Amino acid sequence: MLPYGFYKVLHILGIALTLVALGGMTVHALNGGLKGENVARRLLIGMHGTGVLFILVGGFGLLARIGFAHGSGFPFWLWVKLGLWGVFAVVAAVPYRAPARGKSILLLLPVLAMAAAAMAVYKPS
Ligand code: HEM
Repeated sequence: MLPYGFYKVLHILGIALTLVALGGMTVHALNGGLKGENVARRLLIGMHGTGVLFILVGGFGLLARIGFAHGSGFPFWLWVKLGLWGVFAVVAAVPYRAPARGKSILLLLPVLAMAAAAMAVYKPS
């Protein structure tokens, strides 16, 4: 198993990749851009996919490092983080389908990221 620090850096790299990609897609759609017209489309899709994967791999690596054994039940804070991860994964489908929601998405993403970080820091049970 790799060290705690490795998983944490991977986790944070995943968060950065995901947020930049979602921000890029959202601003483009908000300006009236269509999916096929975004010159950075493939890059953003790649960054988003890699980002959500790194968040998950980093997150489960961290869990193993802080002593969670296989088969032990997930605590409340972890379910919240997994739910937020799901939102980060599926919200990529929203900007081009509902461009009018773009500003709300831009405002909501950092709030959700903060909530996920707070779950890891305070671990409410
Ligand atoms: C929604 C996206 C997520 C964000 C923005 C996020 C954010 C963060 C941040 C900022 C930290 C560092 C906290 C600290 O240094 O004390 C952290 C730690 C952690 N995260 Fe996440 N996280 C997310 C999703 C997940 C997921 C899906 C998992 C589990 C599979 C997970 C598991 C963990 C664990 C185990 C830690 C370390 C807790 C510790 O060291 O005590 N996170 N997360």
